Amino acid sequence: MGMTQSITKENLINKAREVFTSNTLQGFSHWKNTDYKFIAPSNKEYVFQWLWDTAFHAIVLSHFDNDWAKEEILNLLKGQGEDGFIPHIIFWGENKKLPHWAYIESMISVRPRTSSITQPPVLGMTIEKIYEKDHDKEFLKKTVDKIALHHKWLLDNRDNDQDGLISIISPNESGMDELPVFQVAANYTGEKTAMLHYTYRKGDFKNYRHKFNSKKILELDYFNVEELLFNTIFIESTRSISRLYLELDKQEESDYFKNVADNCENSLLTKCWDENDEIFYSLYSNNEKMAKVKTVASLVPLLLDGLNGDKIDKLVNNHLLNENEFWTPYPFPSVAKNEPYYYPNETPSYKIKLLWRGPTWISTNWLIIKGLRKHGYNAIADGVVLRMLQMIEREGFREYYNPETGAGYRRENFGWSTLLIDLL
Ligand code: GLC
Repeated sequence: MGMTQSITKENLINKAREVFTSNTLQGFSHWKNTDYKFIAPSNKEYVFQWLWDTAFHAIVLSHFDNDWAKEEILNLLKGQGEDGFIPHIIFWGENKKLPHWAYIESMISVRPRTSSITQPPVLGMTIEKIYEKDHDKEFLKKTVDKIALHHKWLLDNRDNDQDGLISIISPNESGMDELPVFQVAANYTGEKTAMLHYTYRKGDFKNYRHKFNSKKILELDYFNVEELLFNTIFIESTRSISRLYLELDKQEESDYFKNVADNCENSLLTKCWDENDEIFYSLYSNNEKMAKVKTVASLVPLLLDGLNGDKIDKLVNNHLLNENEFWTPYPFPSVAKNEPYYYPNETPSYKIKLLWRGPTWISTNWLIIKGLRKHGYNAIADGVVLRMLQMIEREGFREYYNPETGAGYRRENFGWSTLLIDLL
């Protein structure tokens, strides 16, 4: 696609390389008795290794340094539990003073130096992308089984009702921390920031008290969300795993994972579609109630192969392109414009930070744009990419952006905002 005058793909790649280099942390870890080296999301505050950020960094790296991409994934997998579980954060570097939230996250864990919750499983999609670049079967052999084991862990521990949809047990597992969907699920629909944080952390402490026994936590039903973005990514990554097993001549494993993906996809497409609002919603509680808040997660199922006909038409034309919902000058806002929770600006500094309550994030844009292209909406996709280019050229790689003005907010040189490169 066309570029704006001053910025080229090569240009962006050079900038991404600088960001990744300056965000790289390395050392020796005593608890794991191993060297570590990884790209942190930012060189301020976010100085640990996150699951889905790592996947996104590796996807970008596959465009200019595939070996580095592989190292990022292999370093993340060093933090995998023996049960197959992959944590959302690895707190490499034990001498580091932790910011207060990280201190809490690391304390309420039953696993040493990692969190006990996970994050959207983007790794399957990521290693397929890396594999497509150089067909390195040795890399596949080192990674596919491990990632497949994580998917099996999710199936064994997070699907009490056996419908194929995976449940999350904390808002932070969605990657979209304070998305208002979770307020409905956690039963606090008020607007007090402190109360909201308290509500979410209270659930996390309960999880800790139950030693992160997921089955028990889901039975107790105080926080149980079959979340749209998490499951869409689970389906896509499971399909990748299935295809990669074929590359390794493992037909049986390949069939197994295809079946898992089909099941989950069927459930998502039927159970999460609301006939009245004609949009997808996440489900919460053992009664599978719909959390009826329109957020960017409602658009993410666009990425699914099985989405078609009326549903895709309604999703794109009535919601994605609707100026009162998601079609802002710099799409796609994390919360639809006509929701009472929509707040496009940066949180004032005297308030506790709330993320994912209006601003546009590059990670979710990446998922939606890939979905639009998969289903042939190329002109819409290219239009959004152009707006992203303009925004990033002007503001740099920021953590998130104002969906109306494009103003960049919070951390600078933020790793995953380089995902724009993968869309060009
Ligand atoms: C924020 C985001 C989360 C991300 C993390 C590190 O917590 O909500 O998705 O993984 O920052 O960038």
